[in-house]
Amino acid sequence: MGTAVERFDDKARELFDGIGRNEVYEGELLRHRVYTRFLHWMVALFFFLALFSGFGIYLPWLFRWFTPIFGGGPLSRSMHPWFGLAFVFFFALQILNWITPMKWTPADTRWVRNMKGVISGKEKLEPPETGFFNAGQKIQFWEIVVGCIVYLVTGSVLWLGASVFGRITVAVSYVLHDISALIMLGGIFIHIYLSTIGEPGTFESMTRGAVTESWAWTFHPAWFKQVTGRDPKQAYEEGLHRQQGRQNRP
Ligand code: HEM
Repeated sequence: MGTAVERFDDKARELFDGIGRNEVYEGELLRHRVYTRFLHWMVALFFFLALFSGFGIYLPWLFRWFTPIFGGGPLSRSMHPWFGLAFVFFFALQILNWITPMKWTPADTRWVRNMKGVISGKEKLEPPETGFFNAGQKIQFWEIVVGCIVYLVTGSVLWLGASVFGRITVAVSYVLHDISALIMLGGIFIHIYLSTIGEPGTFESMTRGAVTESWAWTFHPAWFKQVTGRDPKQAYEEGLHRQQGRQNRP
């Protein structure tokens, strides 16, 4: 018998699998079900809407050209908090959905210590203990959680204004709100790069929901082992043999 949150997520996953489709072909594994993908793209949509409407408020002299997209400056200003709230709402559902695979483990601490080897590309496979998400992904996830809290608190202060909270609180909130946005934006650039050209094959996990087995044993070996029962190192070597065999064929 799961907790209320687990039961809620299980129901939502089943419901969304009935609405959308997971496309998994031979030699592939299901990675993200419809519900996860729906939440992810809602988060992304409202993140960018909040970002672009926020740019016009942050630096109007530079980003004034963004505001017509939202029907002009004043409308941009009044829609921004609603985009922000929608972003936080969908990310809150994603937190519930991902809370278990995002838990920090001792293997993640070892991953961080060994980060140089992973990032430099010297090692062909991620460390064998790397599960569904690696430590880098978890750090970014928790950074977004903190960012959402900062947006909620400082955003409410900015929304209600100095007449309720006083000028100093509003001034501090501006600074924290903008710092949080800039940190998140930097992280999202890296995230988009890694999810597309940086680690080919990752993007499909958020479109049709599947990844190839070779993607899984390369980037998330412990997860590969958990779902297939096969040894990732051995699967990698067999894959290499098959590839060499194909290349040597006349
Ligand atoms: C065009 C923009 C984006 C693309 C192409 C993209 C792509 C992806 C993909 C392919 C994954 C799955 C990674 C995996 O299974 O290992 C993923 C996961 C994730 N995405 Fe995005 N994403 C985008 C925007 C965003 C935005 C705006 C946010 C939040 C502000 C976000 C937050 C996350 C998080 C927290 C994860 C799980 C951990 C991770 O993989 O880093 N994404 N994204």
